[in-house]
Amino acid sequence: MSKYVIAIDQGTTSSRAIVFDHSGSIVATGQLEHEQIFPRAGWVEHDANEIWTNTREVIGQALGKANITRHDIAAIGITNQRETAVIWDKNTGEPVYNAIVWQDARTQSIVDRLAGDEGVDRFRDTVGLPLNTYFAGTKIVWILENVEGVRERAEAGDLLFGTTDTWVLWNLTGGVNGGVHATDVTNASRTLFMDLRTLEWDDSILEAFDVPRSLLPEIRSSSEIYGYASDNSLLREVPIAGILGDQQAATFGQAAFTRGEAKNTYGTGSFLIYNTGDEIVQSDNGLLTTVCYKLGDEPPVYALEGSIAVTGSLVQWLRDNLGLIGSAPEIETLASSVEDNGGTYIVPAFSGLFAPHWRSDARGAIVGLTRFVNKGHIARAALESTAFQTRDVLDACNADSGVPLAELKVDGGMVANDTLMQFQADILDTDVVRPKVTETTALGAAYAAGLAVGYWKDLDEVAANWQEDKRWTPSIDVAERDRLYRNWQKAVTKTLDWVD
Ligand code: G3P
Repeated sequence: MSKYVIAIDQGTTSSRAIVFDHSGSIVATGQLEHEQIFPRAGWVEHDANEIWTNTREVIGQALGKANITRHDIAAIGITNQRETAVIWDKNTGEPVYNAIVWQDARTQSIVDRLAGDEGVDRFRDTVGLPLNTYFAGTKIVWILENVEGVRERAEAGDLLFGTTDTWVLWNLTGGVNGGVHATDVTNASRTLFMDLRTLEWDDSILEAFDVPRSLLPEIRSSSEIYGYASDNSLLREVPIAGILGDQQAATFGQAAFTRGEAKNTYGTGSFLIYNTGDEIVQSDNGLLTTVCYKLGDEPPVYALEGSIAVTGSLVQWLRDNLGLIGSAPEIETLASSVEDNGGTYIVPAFSGLFAPHWRSDARGAIVGLTRFVNKGHIARAALESTAFQTRDVLDACNADSGVPLAELKVDGGMVANDTLMQFQADILDTDVVRPKVTETTALGAAYAAGLAVGYWKDLDEVAANWQEDKRWTPSIDVAERDRLYRNWQKAVTKTLDWVD
């Protein structure tokens, strides 16, 4: 039996490869950032070729650091930034346009057109999502309508679409030389095209979007052998056996397998996922309905999701666009230089507001400024905005489920930030719990792959690996919590109706 499983985490800001051992511990990591391309206000793109080149390189980095070869690897798992759309030529492997990233808001007029008189919930009963620029479907339409010659080539059957899991899988399995064109149910559930009940593409929706079915990958489960790595990477002949969108992967890596368990991942954005078991729950409170995972032939597990577009990327913005800090971790030091937010609130509605508001007309605001406010307060308000936005989605989740969540499992880069995590517990009035391995996204993809090849026996064996590292318990005065949250809600109202 091989000793390790490798996960490829193709994220929004970087691509990583992480080698895990049987206890779910990290053995080695390779990581490379890719360029964030902002051609216009509201537009965000990635170079798909750069992503594939980086993916191959980080695999080499991870194997090198672990001092192992492909013979030591039992399986490959892929996890990815979801909704980001790539269309490429299957004969040349060349993308026809940059990848349009999930944060990109250029497709608002396509959303409005499709919503028509029926409104943004036109397809919600089938796909669990409102029409919104966030999802891959409207990005496909934009490329078909705006890149010269693409519609004709798509109709001739020469082009393929994929989210970045599919792009990596197709390339890793040989690209133009027989690459596998597939995705998993979790990624497919973010396109606006997949029927949550049948787990198939819905032809009537494809017709409404005018998207040729030949563009779309085959929908497979999250844990099965999709194909084998070709000789264009260092993993030749290793099975690719797990695919999960990054937020679902984090849920899996947190071993949140039981209905009623939830996790929140603090990455570029933050995404709270609440496991609803075998039930498709339509939200009355602005959450999305999505597939949580599906293991091989077993029935799917569903989830409710509260998606927040901007959390960690607000810290990057303070670093890169304002120069307020030199590196992301400095935010905590700066925020700790003051006692409170000094009355300042930042609502980072850079791509509109996602859950539970779904207001694409919103744009960011800093409110409550006085001459007293210094950069420490701004840093603190930036951190607090992550916690307030999480409260917005957790309240929605509690309202949908009818049972307040007992504790929230957390992961992602920002959970190293003690100030933020304490504030999070305070503002939620719920325990916040961090596991020992916080790289749950990659771990979840590794688990899905390892389960498919028998490296791990079953979910119980995987769950036994989960260990608590730290717990934050609410300690704030009730009146103070209510005051802060009331002010936050007032601040949110200032961002609405900003774009015509
Ligand atoms: O839906 C977008 C999400 O998958 C991106 O995740 O890790 O870049 O915040 P992240």
